[in-house]
Amino acid sequence: MKVLDGKKISNDIKNEIAAEVDKMKSNEEKVPHLAAVIVGNDGASLTYVGSKVRACERVGFESTLVKMPSTTSEVELLQKIKELNENDAIDGFIVQLPLPPQIDTQKILMAIDPDKDVDGFHPTNFGKMALDMSTFIPATPFGILELLERYEVDTKGKHTVVVGRSHIVGRPMSILMGRRGWPGNSTVTLTHSHTKNITQIISQADIIITALGTPNFLKAEMVKDDAVVIDVGITRVADETREKGYRIVGDVDFENVSKKVSYITPVPGGVGPMTIAMLLKNTLLARERHRLKA
Ligand code: GUN
Repeated sequence: MKVLDGKKISNDIKNEIAAEVDKMKSNEEKVPHLAAVIVGNDGASLTYVGSKVRACERVGFESTLVKMPSTTSEVELLQKIKELNENDAIDGFIVQLPLPPQIDTQKILMAIDPDKDVDGFHPTNFGKMALDMSTFIPATPFGILELLERYEVDTKGKHTVVVGRSHIVGRPMSILMGRRGWPGNSTVTLTHSHTKNITQIISQADIIITALGTPNFLKAEMVKDDAVVIDVGITRVADETREKGYRIVGDVDFENVSKKVSYITPVPGGVGPMTIAMLLKNTLLARERHRLKA
């Protein structure tokens, strides 16, 4: 069994990006600038956005954090997006999800300039992804592809079972694993809350990608010998022995599943850090496109 070490690989990627930024600086070029918008005070969202901004600093990007109150109206958020779309200093930006209930998420995502949509959530970019066109691939799926690639995991002709059909992870992952090329060329089954015989389907998988948010969902007896297991679950579970009062757990019973499989991602330290590294990669790409357009 080999652990797909997202912490290490994400550090490698950040070092590669930092080297690119150093080159930009020595050529007196503008460095990439990422903005992140957060609405409300959700603890997990604040933590993720904080990590994204810190990662920008670490690689030498410029960053802007826009904090808006939980009472923000849709019109106010749309106005902020318009400003960010029009601000030539900003190469890319994200609106952290989930948004408060008074705001229509799809309306917000559609207001983002596709050329600045480094999350890849705008329908234009999502459509381009599905059509194999060059675009911003959502950071978490992009991070999973990068892990599979850097560990040279064979995906051709394999049966990939994706558990969960969220717009952020499951749906794009199911498209990407079936695309031509590598990682890809897989035969994909997308499972969700209405799937019958899910345990039986999972037991036939060569590659399992779980994005549910249900701790310990995937048990050893559900998994084929030598399968590849990618755990995208991140759930906060109360833990008084920790300074923060919680720990992060994945969807996979790592202790037992890891004994059977060929590759597995840990939680924490697997897919999570890759998401941030790939957001930086998308921001670097946004800067390059912006430069060519100017
Ligand atoms: N919420 C959970 N994951 C993500 C993500 O990748 N991007 C944004 N904007 N919000 C999220």
